[in-house]
Order: sequence, then C-alpha cells, then structure tokens
Amino acid sequence: MKTIVVYYSRTGSNEYLAEKIARSLNCDIEEIVPHLNLFFFVAVSSLLKKSPGIKTLSHNLSEYDRIVLCGPVFMGTFISPLRGFISKYEKNIKKLYFACCCASSDATKDDKFGHGSVFKMAKDILKEKLVFCEAFPIPLVVPEDKQKDSDLIMKTRLSDSNFTGEIQRRFENFIQKLAE
Ligand SMILES: Cc1cc2nc3c(=O)[nH]c(=O)nc-3n(C[C@H](O)[C@H](O)[C@H](O)COP(=O)(O)O)c2cc1C
Repeated sequence: MKTIVVYYSRTGSNEYLAEKIARSLNCDIEEIVPHLNLFFFVAVSSLLKKSPGIKTLSHNLSEYDRIVLCGPVFMGTFISPLRGFISKYEKNIKKLYFACCCASSDATKDDKFGHGSVFKMAKDILKEKLVFCEAFPIPLVVPEDKQKDSDLIMKTRLSDSNFTGEIQRRFENFIQKLAE
C-alpha cells in the first residue's frame, strides 16, 4: 500500500501529528498550502463552505493507494484547505483516512463545534472513499482537572513532551488500523 500524508496546520499540532504518522508508516508527506494563506481567508471561506483553492502538490497523488489527511477544526467546520484539497484531487483519491487534532473532546464531539459533526461533513463529501476518521483532542494532553480550561486548551500544542498516555494509545490504534 503506497501511502502519503497530507496536512494543513496553522499552529503546528496537525503538522506534528502528520509527521508522526508519516514516520510511523515510513511514507511521503506534504503540506497543503492555500492560495490565500491568511487565517482570515481560511476562516471566512471555511464558514462559507467554499475554498479559494490550494497550491499544486509536488507529489503525484495518482501514484498512491491511500491518503492520510490531517487538519484541525475551526468554528465547527470542515476547513477550506481540506475541502480545497479534496475538490482539487478528488479523482486521485482512492481511500482516505482523516486524522484531526482539535480542541473538542470526546464528550463534546457531537456539539455544534465538535469534531464528530465535522467527520459527518467529510463523509458527505468523500462518501465511501473515507475509510475512517480519528480525533486527537488537545484535552487529552492537558491534566485531567484542566480539561475544561478553554484558554489552556487553545494555547496547548502537541509535542513530544505531552504526546503520552491516552493520545499515544489512540495513535498506536490508528497506525494499527492502517496496517490491517
Ligand atoms: C479561531 C479558532 C477556532 C477554532 N474552532 C474550533 C472548533 O470549532 N472545534 C474544535 O474542536 N477546535 C477548534 N479550534 C481549535 C483547533 O482545532 C486546535 O487548536 C488545533 O489543534 C489547531 O491545529 P493546528 O495547530 O494544526 O493549527 C479552533 C481554533 C481557532 C484558532
């Protein structure tokens, strides 16, 4: 199975996750760069469910059997760089696995701003090409008594020092599923 990890990350957590997945799978990796790479445009276009488009990737996606897509949730949306990636490369996508580092927890995943709703949006777009989705919620890497501290959650980034315990187990399961 030839695999590539593609990711969009604004503050580094999804980049960290994408690199960790690519290292584990020993596969290629490439960043998604929106044409209008300013957060304002990413935010507005995400809310409007539009994408101003993304720069052409250097890898030829038609050579890959599967794609691991990594990216965050902003304002409860399936963000425009990820939408832009799918619309540009739809024909080349055979199977896609979505890994998402976000602020919503498992308990809030089905809320308006939760990752569960975003996974449903991804499924509506990709249909049977979307094999599975996994969330890597930031609340998993902060102390249990601070998991509702939204300031701390928004400031926390994934790193080697906090990628332990439940999030590490979830990561190993994710890699295991890709190996099946
Ligand atoms: C403006 C803004 C809006 C956000 N909205 C959501 C949201 O609706 N749901 C969520 O789970 N996380 C939300 N987040 C948190 C990001 O998904 C989280 O910080 C993620 O780890 C960022 O990934 P990155 O470091 O790869 O950019 C938001 C973050 C920002 C800055």
